[in-house]
Amino acid sequence: MQIISSVEEMQSYVTRLRGKGQLIGLAPTMGALHEGHLSLIDMIREKSDVVIVSIFVNPTQFGPNEDYDRYPRQMEADLAACEARGADIVFMPDREDILPPDFSTYIEENEYSQGLCGISRPGHFRGVATIVAILFNVCRPDFAVFGQKDAQQAAVLQKMVKDLYFPVEILVAPIVREGDGLAKSSRNRYLEVGERTDAVRLSQALNIGKDIVAHGNLSVDRIKAEVTHHLSQSRRIRIIYVEIVDKDTMKPEREVRPGQSLLTLAVWLDQTRLIDNMIL
Ligand code: PAJ
Repeated sequence: MQIISSVEEMQSYVTRLRGKGQLIGLAPTMGALHEGHLSLIDMIREKSDVVIVSIFVNPTQFGPNEDYDRYPRQMEADLAACEARGADIVFMPDREDILPPDFSTYIEENEYSQGLCGISRPGHFRGVATIVAILFNVCRPDFAVFGQKDAQQAAVLQKMVKDLYFPVEILVAPIVREGDGLAKSSRNRYLEVGERTDAVRLSQALNIGKDIVAHGNLSVDRIKAEVTHHLSQSRRIRIIYVEIVDKDTMKPEREVRPGQSLLTLAVWLDQTRLIDNMIL
């Protein structure tokens, strides 16, 4: 496994690979890798000759009061995990290379990014789209993989690729969960014991929604009410949103369309922001 931290070196490396006709797959991450991230490597490996995992804690996607400074950083463990999972290259660029002091160009998607997390995290998707565009230009992947865990992020990036004709195909990987249903997340490590117990309510609430649909009830209001009720049973949980949206455009649904509608939620669990979603 190669570890590359210079943008220039990454560019000449991929130029060589592409010259040999190799298909390149990219799995962008911010590190603190867990099984959810590692499943992305498995998925992209099926399509690509060379798998690049990028690790970069992107300051432009964190709000001023968010957890950029305390975001978990564990480079050695991450490198070992990538190597064990069969990544070919880990690209861990220096911040000054990616975002030099005179950096002044941003990418903004202005439809799919507007609702849901776009409301409570202004500027977040602009930061994500900008950094992913940079990674695409530097790594020039044929395929890039993102997790369904961040469904709105995947939708925004699919739209960016379509609108701007990036020559890359986006794959979306299913959500990897803990045994009790909690979606794996780098932020789960912030949770204390009692909080961790209550965190299971997120996936339980989504399953309640799914059950209602399975029983033939397609009412958005009914599902949102039941989901909200279940989350509200924990005094630690403050709901940021519970919504049912089209899974591709993130636009609110009037009635559930099974297989097309996404039940998605964000909460504060004490001081930790958690998101989860499920296709109904
Ligand atoms: P990060 O939160 O590190 O996540 C990297 C990728 O792993 C994302 O595509 C995310 O959706 C996926 N992922 C995280 N948890 C997952 C889970 N439990 N199951 C499946 N996939 C999961 O998302 C980002 O970083 C950043 O915004 C990034 C795209 C790297 C841009 O900075």
